[in-house]
Amino acid sequence: MSHTTDGIAPHGGHLINRIATAQEKAEFLAQADVLPRVQLDERSYSDLVMIAIGGFSPLNGFMQQADYEQVVTDMRLVNGLPWSIPVTLSVSEAVAEPLKEGNWVRLDDPNGRFVGVLELTQKYRYNKAHEATNVYRTDDIKHPGVQVVYNQGAINLAGPIWLLERDAHPNFPKYQIDPAESRRLFQEKGWKTIVGFQTRNPIHRAHEYIQKCALEVVDGLFLHPLVGATKEDDIPADVRMRCYEIMLEHYFPKDRVILAINPSSMRYAGPREAIFHALVRKNYGCTHFIVGRDHAGVGDYYGTYDAQYIFDEFEPGELGIVPMKFEHAFYCTVTQGMATTKTSPSTPEQRVHLSGTKVRELLRKGELPPPEFSRPEVAAELAKAMRVPVEA
Ligand code: ADX
Repeated sequence: MSHTTDGIAPHGGHLINRIATAQEKAEFLAQADVLPRVQLDERSYSDLVMIAIGGFSPLNGFMQQADYEQVVTDMRLVNGLPWSIPVTLSVSEAVAEPLKEGNWVRLDDPNGRFVGVLELTQKYRYNKAHEATNVYRTDDIKHPGVQVVYNQGAINLAGPIWLLERDAHPNFPKYQIDPAESRRLFQEKGWKTIVGFQTRNPIHRAHEYIQKCALEVVDGLFLHPLVGATKEDDIPADVRMRCYEIMLEHYFPKDRVILAINPSSMRYAGPREAIFHALVRKNYGCTHFIVGRDHAGVGDYYGTYDAQYIFDEFEPGELGIVPMKFEHAFYCTVTQGMATTKTSPSTPEQRVHLSGTKVRELLRKGELPPPEFSRPEVAAELAKAMRVPVEA
Protein backbone atom coordinates (compact mmCIF):
# COMPACT_ATOMS: atom_id res chain seq x y z
CA MET A 1 0.00 0.00 0.00
CA SER A 2 1.51 3.30 -1.00
CA HIS A 3 1.36 6.15 1.46
CA THR A 4 2.58 9.45 0.09
CA THR A 5 2.55 12.87 1.68
CA ASP A 6 -0.82 13.31 -0.04
CA GLY A 7 -2.21 10.28 1.74
CA ILE A 8 -3.11 6.95 0.20
CA ALA A 9 -3.10 6.83 -3.61
CA PRO A 10 -6.49 6.69 -5.34
CA HIS A 11 -7.30 3.47 -7.20
CA GLY A 12 -5.20 3.55 -10.37
CA GLY A 13 -2.97 6.29 -8.95
CA HIS A 14 -4.83 9.40 -10.04
CA LEU A 15 -8.03 11.00 -8.75
CA ILE A 16 -10.42 11.46 -11.65
CA ASN A 17 -12.17 14.81 -12.06
CA ARG A 18 -14.81 14.93 -14.77
CA ILE A 19 -16.62 18.06 -13.67
CA ALA A 20 -16.84 20.34 -16.71
CA THR A 21 -14.75 23.50 -16.66
CA ALA A 22 -16.63 26.77 -17.21
CA GLN A 23 -15.54 26.73 -20.83
CA GLU A 24 -16.61 23.12 -21.41
CA LYS A 25 -19.91 23.78 -19.71
CA ALA A 26 -20.60 26.79 -21.94
CA GLU A 27 -19.79 24.70 -24.99
CA PHE A 28 -22.17 21.93 -23.89
CA LEU A 29 -24.95 24.34 -22.96
CA ALA A 30 -24.70 25.99 -26.37
CA GLN A 31 -25.62 22.61 -27.86
CA ALA A 32 -28.29 21.73 -25.31
CA ASP A 33 -31.10 21.73 -27.87
CA VAL A 34 -29.33 19.87 -30.64
CA LEU A 35 -27.63 17.02 -28.83
CA PRO A 36 -29.46 13.67 -28.72
CA ARG A 37 -30.75 12.97 -25.22
CA VAL A 38 -30.67 10.08 -22.83
CA GLN A 39 -32.59 10.24 -19.58
CA LEU A 40 -30.76 8.74 -16.62
CA ASP A 41 -32.51 6.82 -13.86
CA GLU A 42 -31.61 7.46 -10.23
CA ARG A 43 -28.81 4.90 -10.25
CA SER A 44 -27.10 5.95 -13.47
CA TYR A 45 -27.35 9.56 -12.34
CA SER A 46 -25.57 8.73 -9.10
CA ASP A 47 -23.00 6.74 -11.10
CA LEU A 48 -22.44 9.82 -13.30
CA VAL A 49 -21.82 11.92 -10.22
CA MET A 50 -19.52 9.33 -8.63
CA ILE A 51 -17.42 9.07 -11.79
CA ALA A 52 -17.20 12.86 -12.09
CA ILE A 53 -16.06 13.48 -8.51
CA GLY A 54 -13.47 10.70 -8.62
CA GLY A 55 -15.29 8.29 -6.31
CA PHE A 56 -15.03 5.63 -9.02
CA SER A 57 -11.41 6.38 -10.06
CA PRO A 58 -9.92 5.17 -12.38
CA LEU A 59 -13.22 5.12 -14.32
CA ASN A 60 -13.68 8.28 -16.37
CA GLY A 61 -16.97 7.19 -17.89
CA PHE A 62 -19.38 4.31 -18.39
CA MET A 63 -17.57 1.03 -19.08
CA GLN A 64 -16.44 -0.15 -22.49
CA GLN A 65 -17.33 -3.71 -23.44
CA ALA A 66 -13.87 -5.16 -22.77
CA ASP A 67 -13.74 -3.67 -19.27
CA TYR A 68 -17.34 -4.67 -18.61
CA GLU A 69 -16.76 -8.28 -19.58
CA GLN A 70 -13.58 -8.65 -17.64
CA VAL A 71 -15.16 -7.08 -14.58
CA VAL A 72 -18.12 -9.46 -14.77
CA THR A 73 -16.07 -12.62 -15.25
CA ASP A 74 -12.83 -11.78 -13.51
CA MET A 75 -13.31 -8.78 -11.18
CA ARG A 76 -10.70 -6.83 -13.10
CA LEU A 77 -10.48 -3.97 -15.57
CA VAL A 78 -8.62 -4.68 -18.79
CA ASN A 79 -5.56 -2.92 -17.35
CA GLY A 80 -5.51 -5.53 -14.57
CA LEU A 81 -6.76 -3.34 -11.73
CA PRO A 82 -9.27 -5.00 -9.41
CA TRP A 83 -12.86 -3.82 -10.00
CA SER A 84 -15.88 -5.84 -8.97
CA ILE A 85 -19.06 -4.06 -10.10
CA PRO A 86 -20.08 -3.09 -13.65
CA VAL A 87 -20.71 0.64 -14.05
CA THR A 88 -22.79 0.84 -17.19
CA LEU A 89 -25.38 3.02 -18.83
CA SER A 90 -28.03 0.66 -20.16
CA VAL A 91 -30.74 1.90 -22.52
CA SER A 92 -33.39 0.33 -24.73
CA GLU A 93 -32.66 -0.52 -28.36
CA ALA A 94 -35.01 2.27 -29.42
CA VAL A 95 -33.01 4.84 -27.43
CA ALA A 96 -29.64 3.45 -28.56
CA GLU A 97 -30.46 3.05 -32.23
CA PRO A 98 -30.21 6.70 -33.44
CA LEU A 99 -27.11 7.45 -31.32
CA LYS A 100 -23.86 7.54 -33.26
CA GLU A 101 -20.52 6.40 -31.88
CA GLY A 102 -18.09 9.32 -31.76
CA ASN A 103 -20.82 11.84 -30.95
CA TRP A 104 -21.81 13.61 -27.77
CA VAL A 105 -24.99 12.61 -25.97
CA ARG A 106 -26.80 14.92 -23.60
CA LEU A 107 -27.54 13.23 -20.27
CA ASP A 108 -30.60 14.37 -18.34
CA ASP A 109 -31.30 13.55 -14.70
CA PRO A 110 -34.55 11.74 -13.74
CA ASN A 111 -36.30 15.15 -13.68
CA GLY A 112 -35.27 15.98 -17.23
CA ARG A 113 -32.55 18.47 -16.25
CA PHE A 114 -29.45 18.61 -18.45
CA VAL A 115 -26.70 17.37 -16.10
CA GLY A 116 -23.99 15.72 -18.13
CA VAL A 117 -22.50 14.70 -21.44
CA LEU A 118 -21.38 11.32 -22.69
CA GLU A 119 -18.82 11.07 -25.45
CA LEU A 120 -20.27 7.91 -26.97
CA THR A 121 -17.41 5.64 -27.99
CA GLN A 122 -19.22 2.30 -28.06
CA LYS A 123 -22.66 0.67 -27.99
CA TYR A 124 -22.82 -3.00 -27.08
CA ARG A 125 -25.16 -5.80 -26.10
CA TYR A 126 -24.55 -7.76 -22.95
CA ASN A 127 -25.77 -10.93 -21.32
CA LYS A 128 -28.01 -10.19 -18.33
CA ALA A 129 -28.08 -13.72 -16.92
CA HIS A 130 -24.27 -13.85 -17.11
CA GLU A 131 -23.98 -10.52 -15.28
CA ALA A 132 -26.52 -11.58 -12.64
CA THR A 133 -24.97 -14.94 -11.83
CA ASN A 134 -21.43 -13.59 -11.74
CA VAL A 135 -21.94 -10.28 -9.96
CA TYR A 136 -24.94 -11.13 -7.75
CA ARG A 137 -24.35 -14.88 -7.50
CA THR A 138 -28.00 -15.46 -8.42
CA ASP A 139 -30.34 -14.80 -11.31
CA ASP A 140 -33.36 -14.73 -9.02
CA ILE A 141 -35.48 -11.81 -10.19
CA LYS A 142 -36.59 -11.20 -6.60
CA HIS A 143 -33.06 -10.05 -5.73
CA PRO A 144 -33.28 -6.21 -5.84
CA GLY A 145 -29.98 -5.84 -7.72
CA VAL A 146 -30.79 -8.55 -10.23
CA GLN A 147 -34.19 -6.98 -10.74
CA VAL A 148 -32.52 -3.74 -11.84
CA VAL A 149 -30.37 -5.65 -14.35
CA TYR A 150 -33.37 -7.47 -15.82
CA ASN A 151 -35.49 -4.32 -15.98
CA GLN A 152 -32.87 -2.13 -17.64
CA GLY A 153 -32.28 -1.72 -21.39
CA ALA A 154 -30.46 -4.27 -23.57
CA ILE A 155 -27.74 -1.95 -24.85
CA ASN A 156 -24.88 -0.41 -22.89
CA LEU A 157 -23.64 3.03 -23.92
CA ALA A 158 -19.96 3.53 -23.15
CA GLY A 159 -17.55 6.43 -23.09
CA PRO A 160 -16.08 9.24 -21.02
CA ILE A 161 -18.52 11.61 -19.29
CA TRP A 162 -18.62 15.14 -17.96
CA LEU A 163 -20.82 16.38 -15.17
CA LEU A 164 -21.97 19.90 -16.03
CA GLU A 165 -21.87 21.13 -12.49
CA ARG A 166 -21.43 19.80 -8.96
CA ASP A 167 -24.64 20.99 -7.29
CA ALA A 168 -24.92 21.20 -3.53
CA HIS A 169 -26.96 18.32 -2.15
CA PRO A 170 -30.54 19.56 -1.58
CA ASN A 171 -30.87 17.91 1.85
CA PHE A 172 -27.37 17.45 3.23
CA PRO A 173 -25.16 20.20 1.76
CA LYS A 174 -22.83 20.32 4.76
CA TYR A 175 -22.14 16.61 4.52
CA GLN A 176 -21.39 16.64 0.82
CA ILE A 177 -17.67 16.00 1.00
CA ASP A 178 -16.19 14.79 -2.28
CA PRO A 179 -12.97 12.73 -2.51
CA ALA A 180 -10.64 15.68 -3.12
CA GLU A 181 -12.11 17.40 -0.07
CA SER A 182 -12.08 14.37 2.25
CA ARG A 183 -8.44 13.82 1.32
CA ARG A 184 -7.72 17.45 2.18
CA LEU A 185 -9.57 17.14 5.50
CA PHE A 186 -7.65 13.99 6.47
CA GLN A 187 -4.39 15.82 5.76
CA GLU A 188 -5.51 18.85 7.72
CA LYS A 189 -6.36 16.69 10.72
CA GLY A 190 -3.05 14.89 10.43
CA TRP A 191 -4.78 11.52 10.16
CA LYS A 192 -2.50 8.88 8.65
CA THR A 193 -4.89 5.95 9.02
CA ILE A 194 -8.58 6.38 8.34
CA VAL A 195 -11.24 3.71 8.43
CA GLY A 196 -14.23 4.03 6.09
CA PHE A 197 -17.66 2.84 7.16
CA GLN A 198 -20.37 2.02 4.64
CA THR A 199 -23.98 1.90 5.79
CA ARG A 200 -27.49 2.03 4.43
CA ASN A 201 -29.26 1.48 7.76
CA PRO A 202 -29.99 3.56 10.83
CA ILE A 203 -27.12 3.24 13.25
CA HIS A 204 -27.46 0.61 15.93
CA ARG A 205 -25.15 -0.46 18.71
CA ALA A 206 -23.46 -3.20 16.71
CA HIS A 207 -22.46 -0.57 14.14
CA GLU A 208 -21.24 1.70 16.91
CA TYR A 209 -19.29 -1.15 18.49
CA ILE A 210 -17.38 -2.13 15.36
CA GLN A 211 -16.74 1.52 14.49
CA LYS A 212 -15.28 2.07 17.93
CA CYS A 213 -13.21 -1.12 17.86
CA ALA A 214 -11.74 0.18 14.60
CA LEU A 215 -11.23 3.64 16.09
CA GLU A 216 -9.10 2.12 18.82
CA VAL A 217 -6.47 1.32 16.21
CA VAL A 218 -6.74 4.00 13.51
CA ASP A 219 -6.58 7.80 13.62
CA GLY A 220 -10.03 8.65 12.31
CA LEU A 221 -13.40 7.31 11.22
CA PHE A 222 -14.95 8.35 7.90
CA LEU A 223 -18.63 7.68 8.46
CA HIS A 224 -19.97 7.39 4.96
CA PRO A 225 -23.65 6.47 4.71
CA LEU A 226 -24.95 5.80 1.25
CA VAL A 227 -27.70 8.22 0.21
CA GLY A 228 -28.34 7.16 -3.41
CA ALA A 229 -31.08 4.76 -4.45
CA THR A 230 -31.95 2.02 -1.96
CA LYS A 231 -34.74 -0.52 -2.00
CA GLU A 232 -38.28 0.54 -1.08
CA ASP A 233 -38.33 -0.75 2.47
CA ASP A 234 -34.94 0.64 3.56
CA ILE A 235 -35.17 3.59 5.98
CA PRO A 236 -34.96 6.94 4.10
CA ALA A 237 -31.62 8.77 4.08
CA ASP A 238 -32.82 11.87 5.93
CA VAL A 239 -33.93 9.77 8.91
CA ARG A 240 -30.65 7.86 8.91
CA MET A 241 -28.65 11.09 8.76
CA ARG A 242 -30.49 12.48 11.79
CA CYS A 243 -29.63 9.28 13.68
CA TYR A 244 -25.96 9.75 12.78
CA GLU A 245 -26.01 13.35 13.94
CA ILE A 246 -27.53 12.25 17.25
CA MET A 247 -24.87 9.57 17.69
CA LEU A 248 -22.02 11.96 16.96
CA GLU A 249 -23.45 14.52 19.32
CA HIS A 250 -23.83 12.14 22.26
CA TYR A 251 -21.67 9.08 21.81
CA PHE A 252 -18.46 9.90 19.93
CA PRO A 253 -15.55 12.23 20.63
CA LYS A 254 -15.87 15.41 18.56
CA ASP A 255 -12.58 15.22 16.70
CA ARG A 256 -12.26 11.60 15.59
CA VAL A 257 -15.12 11.26 13.10
CA ILE A 258 -16.05 12.88 9.80
CA LEU A 259 -19.61 12.31 8.63
CA ALA A 260 -20.08 12.57 4.87
CA ILE A 261 -22.65 11.32 2.38
CA ASN A 262 -21.88 8.75 -0.27
CA PRO A 263 -23.99 9.63 -3.33
CA SER A 264 -23.88 6.06 -4.71
CA SER A 265 -26.82 3.72 -5.17
CA MET A 266 -26.96 0.30 -3.53
CA ARG A 267 -26.56 -2.81 -5.65
CA TYR A 268 -27.07 -5.37 -2.85
CA ALA A 269 -24.34 -7.45 -4.48
CA GLY A 270 -22.92 -8.61 -1.13
CA PRO A 271 -19.29 -9.79 -1.55
CA ARG A 272 -18.70 -8.08 -4.91
CA GLU A 273 -20.10 -4.86 -3.53
CA ALA A 274 -17.90 -5.06 -0.45
CA ILE A 275 -14.82 -4.90 -2.71
CA PHE A 276 -16.41 -2.05 -4.65
CA HIS A 277 -17.30 -0.18 -1.44
CA ALA A 278 -13.72 -0.55 -0.24
CA LEU A 279 -12.24 0.78 -3.50
CA VAL A 280 -14.60 3.75 -3.43
CA ARG A 281 -13.51 4.58 0.13
CA LYS A 282 -9.88 4.28 -0.94
CA ASN A 283 -10.65 7.00 -3.47
CA TYR A 284 -12.00 9.15 -0.65
CA GLY A 285 -8.63 8.69 1.07
CA CYS A 286 -9.40 5.88 3.53
CA THR A 287 -6.63 3.42 4.36
CA HIS A 288 -8.93 0.89 6.04
CA PHE A 289 -12.48 -0.28 5.47
CA ILE A 290 -14.94 -2.03 7.79
CA VAL A 291 -16.56 -5.24 6.56
CA GLY A 292 -18.91 -6.79 9.09
CA ARG A 293 -21.57 -9.44 8.80
CA ASP A 294 -23.33 -9.91 5.46
CA HIS A 295 -21.95 -6.63 4.11
CA ALA A 296 -24.22 -5.16 1.38
CA GLY A 297 -26.28 -8.32 1.51
CA VAL A 298 -30.01 -8.79 1.20
CA GLY A 299 -32.27 -11.70 2.16
CA ASP A 300 -30.42 -15.01 2.34
CA TYR A 301 -28.46 -14.70 -0.88
CA TYR A 302 -25.02 -14.56 0.74
CA GLY A 303 -23.28 -16.37 3.56
CA THR A 304 -22.68 -14.25 6.68
CA TYR A 305 -18.96 -13.81 5.97
CA ASP A 306 -18.81 -14.21 2.17
CA ALA A 307 -18.14 -10.47 1.86
CA GLN A 308 -15.02 -10.98 3.99
CA TYR A 309 -13.74 -14.12 2.23
CA ILE A 310 -13.79 -12.40 -1.17
CA PHE A 311 -10.93 -10.12 -0.05
CA ASP A 312 -8.70 -13.22 -0.03
CA GLU A 313 -9.16 -13.55 -3.79
CA PHE A 314 -6.78 -10.62 -4.24
CA GLU A 315 -3.09 -10.49 -3.51
CA PRO A 316 -2.19 -8.46 -0.44
CA GLY A 317 -1.69 -4.86 -1.55
CA GLU A 318 -3.59 -5.20 -4.83
CA LEU A 319 -6.65 -3.45 -3.50
CA GLY A 320 -4.57 -0.81 -1.71
CA ILE A 321 -6.98 -0.60 1.22
CA VAL A 322 -7.04 -2.83 4.27
CA PRO A 323 -10.30 -4.58 5.17
CA MET A 324 -11.10 -4.60 8.90
CA LYS A 325 -13.28 -7.65 9.32
CA PHE A 326 -15.75 -7.97 12.16
CA GLU A 327 -17.79 -10.90 13.38
CA HIS A 328 -21.49 -10.56 13.99
CA ALA A 329 -21.75 -8.20 16.98
CA PHE A 330 -24.50 -8.33 19.61
CA TYR A 331 -25.28 -7.26 23.14
CA CYS A 332 -24.08 -9.93 25.55
CA THR A 333 -26.25 -10.22 28.66
CA VAL A 334 -23.53 -12.17 30.48
CA THR A 335 -20.77 -9.59 30.19
CA GLN A 336 -23.27 -6.72 29.84
CA GLY A 337 -21.66 -5.12 26.87
CA MET A 338 -21.35 -5.33 23.14
CA ALA A 339 -19.34 -8.31 21.97
CA THR A 340 -18.89 -11.00 19.37
CA THR A 341 -18.28 -14.73 19.75
CA LYS A 342 -14.58 -13.82 19.74
CA THR A 343 -14.96 -12.02 23.06
CA SER A 344 -18.10 -13.30 24.77
CA PRO A 345 -18.78 -16.61 26.54
CA SER A 346 -22.57 -16.28 25.96
CA THR A 347 -24.86 -18.88 24.45
CA PRO A 348 -27.11 -17.68 21.59
CA GLU A 349 -30.08 -17.16 23.98
CA GLN A 350 -27.95 -14.79 26.06
CA ARG A 351 -27.41 -12.40 23.16
CA VAL A 352 -29.55 -9.47 21.99
CA HIS A 353 -29.56 -8.95 18.27
CA LEU A 354 -32.37 -7.63 16.08
CA SER A 355 -32.62 -7.63 12.32
CA GLY A 356 -33.64 -4.48 10.44
CA THR A 357 -36.95 -6.17 9.61
CA LYS A 358 -37.57 -6.92 13.28
CA VAL A 359 -36.85 -3.30 14.23
CA ARG A 360 -39.31 -2.02 11.62
CA GLU A 361 -41.92 -4.44 12.94
CA LEU A 362 -41.42 -3.18 16.50
CA LEU A 363 -41.68 0.44 15.42
CA ARG A 364 -44.84 -0.27 13.47
CA LYS A 365 -46.38 -1.85 16.55
CA GLY A 366 -45.57 1.30 18.51
CA GLU A 367 -42.68 -0.27 20.43
CA LEU A 368 -39.15 1.05 20.66
CA PRO A 369 -36.14 -1.17 20.02
CA PRO A 370 -34.51 -1.98 23.40
CA PRO A 371 -31.50 0.00 24.67
CA GLU A 372 -29.31 -3.08 24.20
CA PHE A 373 -29.94 -2.74 20.50
CA SER A 374 -30.30 0.97 19.88
CA ARG A 375 -29.27 4.08 21.79
CA PRO A 376 -32.51 5.57 23.22
CA GLU A 377 -32.11 8.91 21.41
CA VAL A 378 -31.79 7.06 18.10
CA ALA A 379 -34.76 4.82 18.91
CA ALA A 380 -36.85 7.91 19.66
CA GLU A 381 -35.82 9.51 16.38
CA LEU A 382 -36.75 6.37 14.46
CA ALA A 383 -40.08 6.19 16.24
CA LYS A 384 -40.77 9.81 15.38
CA ALA A 385 -39.88 9.19 11.74
CA MET A 386 -42.15 6.18 11.58
CA ARG A 387 -44.88 8.30 13.25
CA VAL A 388 -45.10 6.06 16.26
CA PRO A 389 -46.08 7.58 19.61
CA VAL A 390 -43.18 7.19 22.03
CA GLU A 391 -44.23 5.45 25.24
CA ALA A 392 -43.52 7.39 28.38
S1 ADX B 1 -24.84 -2.46 4.29
O1 ADX B 1 -25.70 -2.94 3.22
O2 ADX B 1 -24.43 -1.08 4.13
O3 ADX B 1 -23.69 -3.39 4.49
P1 ADX B 1 -25.58 -1.97 7.08
O4 ADX B 1 -25.78 -0.51 7.03
O5 ADX B 1 -26.49 -2.71 7.99
O6 ADX B 1 -25.78 -2.59 5.60
O7 ADX B 1 -24.11 -2.37 7.48
C1 ADX B 1 -23.05 -1.48 7.58
C2 ADX B 1 -21.79 -2.25 7.97
O8 ADX B 1 -21.95 -2.78 9.29
C3 ADX B 1 -21.45 -3.44 7.09
O9 ADX B 1 -20.04 -3.60 7.03
C4 ADX B 1 -22.06 -4.62 7.85
O10 ADX B 1 -21.41 -5.81 7.54
C5 ADX B 1 -21.80 -4.19 9.29
N1 ADX B 1 -22.77 -4.75 10.26
C6 ADX B 1 -24.11 -4.50 10.35
N2 ADX B 1 -24.66 -5.13 11.40
C7 ADX B 1 -23.65 -5.81 12.02
C8 ADX B 1 -23.56 -6.65 13.18
N3 ADX B 1 -24.61 -6.92 13.96
N4 ADX B 1 -22.36 -7.18 13.48
C9 ADX B 1 -21.25 -6.92 12.74
N5 ADX B 1 -21.28 -6.12 11.65
C10 ADX B 1 -22.45 -5.57 11.28
